[in-house]
Amino acid sequence: MSELTEYQGKATMEKITSLAKRRGFVFQSSEIYGGQNGAWDYGPLGIELKNRIAGAWWKEMTRLHYNIAGLDAAILMHPKVWEASGHVENFTDPLVDCKKCKSRFRADMIPEENLASKKCPDCGGELTDTRKFNLMFKSNIGPAEDTASIIYLRPETAQGIYVNYKNIIQSNRMKIPFGIAQIGKAFRNEIVTKNFIFRTCEFEQMEMQYFVKPGTDVEWFNEWRKQRWAYYEKLGVKMDHLRWHQHGADELAHYAKDAYDIQYLFPMGWRELEGVHNRTDYDLGRHSEFSGKDMQYIDQDDNNARYIPYIIETSAGLTRNVLMILCDAYDEEQVAEKGNDDDWRTVLRFHPNLAPVTAAVLPLMKKDGLAEMAQDIRRELQDDYAVDYDQSGAIGRRYRRQDEAGTPFCVTVDYQSKDDKTVTLRFRDSMEQVRVPIAELTARLRQEIKTYKRIK
Ligand code: GAP
Repeated sequence: MSELTEYQGKATMEKITSLAKRRGFVFQSSEIYGGQNGAWDYGPLGIELKNRIAGAWWKEMTRLHYNIAGLDAAILMHPKVWEASGHVENFTDPLVDCKKCKSRFRADMIPEENLASKKCPDCGGELTDTRKFNLMFKSNIGPAEDTASIIYLRPETAQGIYVNYKNIIQSNRMKIPFGIAQIGKAFRNEIVTKNFIFRTCEFEQMEMQYFVKPGTDVEWFNEWRKQRWAYYEKLGVKMDHLRWHQHGADELAHYAKDAYDIQYLFPMGWRELEGVHNRTDYDLGRHSEFSGKDMQYIDQDDNNARYIPYIIETSAGLTRNVLMILCDAYDEEQVAEKGNDDDWRTVLRFHPNLAPVTAAVLPLMKKDGLAEMAQDIRRELQDDYAVDYDQSGAIGRRYRRQDEAGTPFCVTVDYQSKDDKTVTLRFRDSMEQVRVPIAELTARLRQEIKTYKRIK
């Protein structure tokens, strides 16, 4: 499928941000105090969506790969880790300030002519010289605030994996090639944090480090590029909204020999979603040097050859994936119900495996025993599915509310249900309705989820 040249969907960042707040996906952090820049809170639907995305990635990386083990390392690590990793020295952005309006810019994000003439792009005031700004959050641990007590919030989860790689070989008897997967928080003191949850100071990453024999790294790099692309296809993402971007020499991180980003076409344009990096033996080599511990692998399948493994990394932003899935699912559609041609609906076309709510159970009326029957159905379904229950308002409005939350199935209990023990199953995407025996509902939903194909 060929990629699009420009965004053609119905989403805008304003619409996504507003829907996210209105429906309880994402709220601004500390909003009552005016908000905290670069930090966001995930509401009831948001945490469900984030957990589903994390779950899909975790299943893909661990359950579907016998040779990839999971890990949850601490956020706080020995400060030497960040010296060894090169982050203390190299993890910087170029920064300029305006002396007049005090605005702060990333030097690589403002027009070249402003940088050359030292003119502020906002007010025309004089810009300072460019200086390096380290993105790591630095604090002190313990009661003394001196250099001996410095501690960093991790800017990537990867290092927690590297320092544990020998533990995992020993505890799980891993043999090269093998991987270690981790999902967790990372922190960067980003200078520019616009576009909602796209670039934030506190975010989550889903990273997998694959340890390979030197000389096989290029082959594994290509293999992981293939697998990561196929993953998004399986997730049901619009594939013409994805493309590869290879890092030029000026973009490569200090640890990388080669790097490709999977970019997604967001409403604001093509942006990085995930990176696949060939980190060589840089990280383990440096940890060997800085810790004095031997990080070599003894290859029993190759005459006990000793070497520092090369690492292929797949690094995706979990919170950035949440934004991608929201944009990808967003649609507005004119629906001509009851002859009303002006009736529009906003619908999130989540894959049922990712939808925060799988099914909503709706009694047509609260009275005449319909609510009780609907509650029984909710109880029956909730063991297998995330289920919502809503009995307030006109049924059309309740369907719209579920469409906007991305609920793929609505189960409506009406008077006929009392007679023949059937319900209406309504499909979010097509808005079609079919009659299903209550006894068959759980199995029918399972079948619908398994065979789900996005129609738009
Ligand atoms: N361990 C390698 C690494 O961290 P990266 O390209 O800096 O590589 C990987 O980050 C992914 O983490 C990115 O593709 C992006 O999805 C996510 N990410 C990075 N910085 C982010 C930020 N400030 N806010 C949200 N997500 C971020």
